[in-house]
Parts: sequence; structure tokens; C-alpha cells
Amino acid sequence: MDFKKDFASILHEVLDGKLNQDKLTLMIEKPRFEEMGDLAFPCFELAKVFRKSPQSIAADIAAEIVSPLLEKVEAVSGYVNVFLSKHKVSSIVLKEVLTLKEHYGDLDLGKNQVITVDFSSPNIAKPFSMGHLRSTVIGNALALITEKYGYRSVRINHLGDWGTQFGKLIVAYKKWGKEETVKQQPIKELLKLYVTFHEEAEKDPSLNDEARGWFKKLEENDDEAMKLWEWFREESLKEFSKTYKLMGIEFDSFHGEAFYNDKMDQVVHLLENMNLLQESEGAQVVPLEGLAPCLIKKRDGTTLYATRDLAAALYRQDTYQFAQSLYIVGNEQSLHFKQLFAVLEKMGYQWVKGMAHVPFGMMLKDGKKMSTRKGKVVLLEEVLQDAISFALEDIKQKNPNLPSKEEVARQVGTGAIIFHDLKNFRQNDIEFSLEDMLKFEGETGPYVQYTHARASSLLRKGEFQENQAEVCISDAEAWPIIMNLTIFPQAIKRAFEENDPSQIAKYVIELARAFNKYYASVRILEDDGQKQERLSLVYSVKVVLKEGLRLLGLEAPEEM
Ligand code: ARG
Repeated sequence: MDFKKDFASILHEVLDGKLNQDKLTLMIEKPRFEEMGDLAFPCFELAKVFRKSPQSIAADIAAEIVSPLLEKVEAVSGYVNVFLSKHKVSSIVLKEVLTLKEHYGDLDLGKNQVITVDFSSPNIAKPFSMGHLRSTVIGNALALITEKYGYRSVRINHLGDWGTQFGKLIVAYKKWGKEETVKQQPIKELLKLYVTFHEEAEKDPSLNDEARGWFKKLEENDDEAMKLWEWFREESLKEFSKTYKLMGIEFDSFHGEAFYNDKMDQVVHLLENMNLLQESEGAQVVPLEGLAPCLIKKRDGTTLYATRDLAAALYRQDTYQFAQSLYIVGNEQSLHFKQLFAVLEKMGYQWVKGMAHVPFGMMLKDGKKMSTRKGKVVLLEEVLQDAISFALEDIKQKNPNLPSKEEVARQVGTGAIIFHDLKNFRQNDIEFSLEDMLKFEGETGPYVQYTHARASSLLRKGEFQENQAEVCISDAEAWPIIMNLTIFPQAIKRAFEENDPSQIAKYVIELARAFNKYYASVRILEDDGQKQERLSLVYSVKVVLKEGLRLLGLEAPEEM
């Protein structure tokens, strides 16, 4: 239900089509005070058009409006204030939620077309950075939201698993590495070897030549080089998988940069045949209008990140015939994606129109960018473990008899971290603060999860009976909840259209707040003949909170 839209269409008719509906929708306001109704239409702009005072225009409009959903229409100081019929609206929305349940808000826009979502994509043999955390949680939420809209999402982890750094790693491992230590703590150990390499290469630059030699061997599929690389990759993946598992995140493909190694010649040939390549200082580039040229091949003949992304785009279109293709990657790669899309457009591919870079801001520490170098990183897995232990302590104190404490602690701890990120508009920078992440009140994931658990407990205690055919709650206390329930589909729509999960995060916070207010002022479980109706409202809140959390990638425990 979208009352703004309904109201706009009524206004459109009353005004004889003088203003279009979109414009009217934008003009409609939500009054600040309850006494002023549920929606208000200001008539000041119309004064010029109609050559009448806003007051008399408002009065004229108010006199003409009739709608079964409205209880009352008033003209007050140049505004048309409308009051929705609490009775009708509540019975419509509750019926919708009670019958559709978690499918409330579904929309079959996608008709099973594919959207590829390229997200997370960490670099192997390196720690999973906070930037990758952002990509992981935003990408996961966007994949879930597109599925809600009837698309088939293909979740791709475009691993950074190729490049000269693997030559360095091989040299370092052969000189200073031990199989056992790498197996025990792959990422930490490989990072250490990498750092050692750089320290040693400063003293002895010939190490760099050695590293180049090993990367060349790798590109030529040398047995020993390949075996080591595969092993590094496998150990890194094992470690990343632990993190993904903690967060409940899955991928359809782990084809990273290395996968495209044997598919690059084809791309270069294609560009050649299309006459798009030009030589520039010995390198091969595609010149672009209004953008820096896209580098395809270096002077020494090796390919680049962009070449691999070109190959990946062609491969993905070929394999999945995607209707849309999203890349969830930080702001700092904006130029790269502009170039990528521009090259594909020059190649004449129509499907480039469905491609988009979904950028996001940085995770800052004390106002500065976090740096991966010199081990000065915050390790995601450690942050997750800290959050989980914190949640476990909290549960042990507040609910010592809870069964499966560990599992609930995992859901709540990871939920805290995911939500901390997603409640922000993705383009904003976020200050990393473990303390903030672990606050379990205010605008946090655990607060919403806790509200969901509270609703679940009420339903158990009150022995809620589903299958209530007609439910209607028209008391004033319930009204903010009802209004919130009606706008869930709009929050999803905005999140989908703007690739912005924070719309849903903000929504669930509002709904949770409205519910907790209701909980504090109404005796929900009182046996006064209305209990089952109130419980239907509680149930609707539970369903919508759970679905909202799910779309963000959070679980909703029944008890916590
Ligand atoms: N591995 C890259 C990085 O850490 C991100 C890859 C993003 N995806 C892509 N198709 N370029 O910066």
C-alpha cells in the first residue's frame, strides 16, 4: 500500500490534471504532529497557478476529496490534511502481512532474469580488510534484495589471486617459509613472508629479479610454481571460508583473476580486430573520450587488472546472459569501472547498459584510511570473534538458561557488525569503532534482533493462534506500527532502486522503535477479548522484522 501515491492520484483528479502525479507525490508531506493527520498537501505553490489564496485552494480541494480509505479531510492554514481510516487501513495491511508472511513486499520485477553481483573479492595471501568487509555485507544484502524482486542473483567472488606478488611470495616461502606454520595460520604467515620479502629485497635487490622470474614461471604454468600458488590459494580460501561461514554468506563462483589468465589473448585479439587498440609508449591502450586511456597490455607484454575485468565481463555475459551486472567495490576504483564500461561500449555491446559500479566509502580509523601494510590492519575474523564473545557474555548474564547460546551469540555478534555497516548510506565513510559495533542498544542489529525475540516470546506466552481471517486494530497506540507496516514495500523498493540497503536498515529500526513503544504502553497479553488481535499485530511485526533483517543478511533468533 502506498498512500502517498493514492493521495497523489486523488489530487491529480481533483486538480483536473493540472499537476502530474509524480510532482504531486513529491509535494505531499508527512505532518510532524499527529493532530495534523497522516499526510498533508501544501497549497502555497498552487496560489500562483490558480490566482487564489492557499487557504481557499486548500478548502476547495478538501471539499472535493472522497475516498473510502479516508476518515477525515481538513483544510488548515493552506494545507490539506488527510486522516486515514485507521480501521480500514489496519485491516487491509494486517490481512496482507498475515497471508503473505515473509513474502510481503515481494515483487516479480526480475522474471527470473540474472543479476550478477561481484562482491567481497579479497586478495589472497593477504588479510581480509575492512574495505572487503564493506563490499561483503553490502553485496550480500543487494543480492538478497534483488532476489526479493524476482531476479536470479549470481554471487561472484572475483578473488585477487594473480599478479607479480605471487612471484615474491614463492621466493619468500622457498627461502624462509615452513609448511607447518603456513598450514596453522595461512594468512598471518603468508603476510609475514610477504613483509619479510620486502625488508630483505631492500638490502638485496636481486630478490626482485628472482620474484619476477617466478611469476613468469607461474604464467607459463611451471609445475612447481603452480603447485605452490595453488596451495597458497587453497589455504587462503579455507581461511576466508571460515569468515564467510560465520557471517552466513555464500557464493556461486570463486572465479578470480587467475581464472581469466587463458582468456586474455582472446580479448586482446578482439580489440585488435575491432581496431580499438593503439600503441602508446610501447604499451597497448584503448583511447577513450573524456577519460584516461584504458591500459590493456604493458610494454613487457603482461596484462592488467582491467584486461582481466574485460575478460570477466565477456565471460559472465556469455555464461549467465545477465540483465544486470553489479560491482560492489570501493569509491577509489571508480575510474577503473568507468574505463571498463567505456571500452565495452566501444566494442558495441548493448548489455553494458545493465552494468553498474556500486561504490562505497572508506572504513576509517581515527579519521584516517586503514592501511594494509606493516601489519597495521584490523583482522575481520578477530573482530567477528570479539563481537561473538561479547554477545555470549551478554547472553550468559541476561539469559543463562538459553539453549544453544553459542549459535545465538554467533547470530547476534555477526549481526552487530553487519548492521553497523549497513545502517549507513553506503557512500559515507564509516569510522571503525569496535565499541560502537558492540553496543547492543540504539540503532544496532542486536536491538532489532532483540525486539524480534521479544515479539516471538509474546506470541509463545499468549499462545497466538494463526489463521485469524479478519483482524483489525484501530487503537491509537497501534497506529504508528500499522503505518510502519504499510511502508515496508516502499523501503525495499528504494533499497532496490538505489542499491542502498540502509533504507531497509533504517526501516527496521523505526518499526522496532514503534513496537517497543507499543509494548511499553499496552498490556498485550491481557485477557480482554482483544488479545488474539493484538497478537496478530505482534506477529505481523515479527514477520516483517525478520524479513527485513534477512534482506540485510542478519538472522533473527527466536530467543536471546
Ligand atoms: N580484489 C580487488 C581489490 O581488492 C577487488 C575486485 C573487485 N572486482 C572486480 N571485478 N574488479 O581491490
